Amino acid sequence: MERHYAVMGDPIQHSLSPWMHNAGYEALGLDAEYQRFRVEASHLAEAVKGLRALGFSGWNVTLPHKENIVSLLDTLTPQAQRAGAVNTVKIHEGQLIGHNTDGDGFVRSVEEELHGFEGKKAVLLGAGGASKGIALALAEQGMCLHILNRTPEKAKGLAQAIEREGGTASTGEFAPGDWLKDVDLLVQTTSVGLHRESFPFSLEGISKQALVVDIIFNPMETAFLKEAKKLGCRTHNGLEMLLYQGALAWEFWLGGQAPVKEMRQALKNQLF
Ligand code: ATR
Repeated sequence: MERHYAVMGDPIQHSLSPWMHNAGYEALGLDAEYQRFRVEASHLAEAVKGLRALGFSGWNVTLPHKENIVSLLDTLTPQAQRAGAVNTVKIHEGQLIGHNTDGDGFVRSVEEELHGFEGKKAVLLGAGGASKGIALALAEQGMCLHILNRTPEKAKGLAQAIEREGGTASTGEFAPGDWLKDVDLLVQTTSVGLHRESFPFSLEGISKQALVVDIIFNPMETAFLKEAKKLGCRTHNGLEMLLYQGALAWEFWLGGQAPVKEMRQALKNQLF
């Protein structure tokens, strides 16, 4: 193999990235291979040295290493700096470059359906790590954000971070409210639904114009998404975000355009 890529995290056995990337290499006839490695937090520095020594061209980084890897790298792209976290590393002329494709991957995944971002309203449910990357990228596109979180202090902290970057953000109670009537994009970023549990509140009264996204992809349709669909909204699960963060990582490593159609099909094959 000419080029080697990987994903490192812990746990990692459920990662779908190898299927997605390897299907892409095959589609384009590239002599490359993508593997997954379970790396415990205490072994991160050794793993980075190891992949460099083994001649890897780049790798993805997932939980719990996204923030801890920052201090082990030589430079960060603006996206990684802004997020304070890295999900993609490239070795370029011996330098380790940290990048983050989570936020821009999300933006790409909704761009076709939203028809423009400027001045539109996005409501984010949740204020954890996943929410932060998405929120900063949507604010950069000019969306007005409203952040609701079970622990309100975390929503406020995230709104302040967005305003420091020049974006517009407000916070509110983690409950139904007037925001339902004029939301353009509703994003569910909490872990509620991962174990098939119902969402803590109803979306009754939501604008039918809204695009509703749940970043969970397994299960493919959470109770939250089922309700949004029943109420007449267009919906996306987390598969598209996973796909486009991968496609952007691919393009960061290899240039050109990632074969998104084949990569999406590979993800679906694993999930069905
Ligand atoms: P991630 O990186 O996936 O975002 P995280 O940083 O642990 O993970 O954040 C988890 C998010 O899910 C938080 O917004 C959390 O809310 P709190 O900040 O109040 O903890 C949210 N969350 C988890 N379980 C929840 C529940 N049962 N009800 C509402 N929100 C929940």
